[in-house]
Amino acid sequence: MANSRSGESVAERIVRVLETFDADRSAQTPSQIARRASLPSSTAHRLVSELVATGLLDRDESGQVRLGMHLWEVAQRGSRALRLRQAALPYMERVQARIRAHTQLAVREQDETLFLERLSHPAAVSNIARVAGRLPLHASSAGLVLLAFADDAARARILSRPLAALSPETVTDPVELDRVLRRTRREGHVVAHGYIEPVSTAVAVPVRERGEVIAALSMVLPRDAPTAGALDELRRAAAAIGRALA
Ligand code: PHB
Repeated sequence: MANSRSGESVAERIVRVLETFDADRSAQTPSQIARRASLPSSTAHRLVSELVATGLLDRDESGQVRLGMHLWEVAQRGSRALRLRQAALPYMERVQARIRAHTQLAVREQDETLFLERLSHPAAVSNIARVAGRLPLHASSAGLVLLAFADDAARARILSRPLAALSPETVTDPVELDRVLRRTRREGHVVAHGYIEPVSTAVAVPVRERGEVIAALSMVLPRDAPTAGALDELRRAAAAIGRALA
């Protein structure tokens, strides 16, 4: 693709435009998009018009634009996330009905935990994870499992970075985190008490496809809830998902 004077490709600029949208900013004017994407106003207006013409963005009567249904359609079609989510959903529903707590499916994406699905329960504890939202690998239970079974290079990369504390109990010391990861690998699950919020305990297990860990299944439970039953259910579900994928 042609590059702008700044050396940035058109594709990179389109991604910057699309990334200005999130759950709290689902409708924006082209000027707001320009500001948030740090693009010249004329460039943002032109890109927005082109994206509206192709259906990747939708414009309403007030002139505000939203992510288009067509974008959702092409993003879902044939995606790895959809295949995984479809294989996982029946088993996640079973776990969630039995344990009555948040049940989620996540993958490692650009060194973060990306949540593909989340089932909740009206009586469940606070949960900051969102579908299509991200949390740090070292703080979330699913992320700890994904990191524990990641390649050595990925693990070394994360352990060498500053590890942010999301709560007073997040493990931010790399030596301690390495211990947690070794234990997770050995035991095949993680129990994270208050790593994200003091009110909850999260548990997670790996989901394997032909032996390789490709995702993690987790539950967010009240802080002092028992974890053994949830882990049993998650292990059974992960094995069934692995078989469904094979
Ligand atoms: C987790 O996956 O570890 C997790 C996610 C959201 C929370 C708490 C824990 O609110």
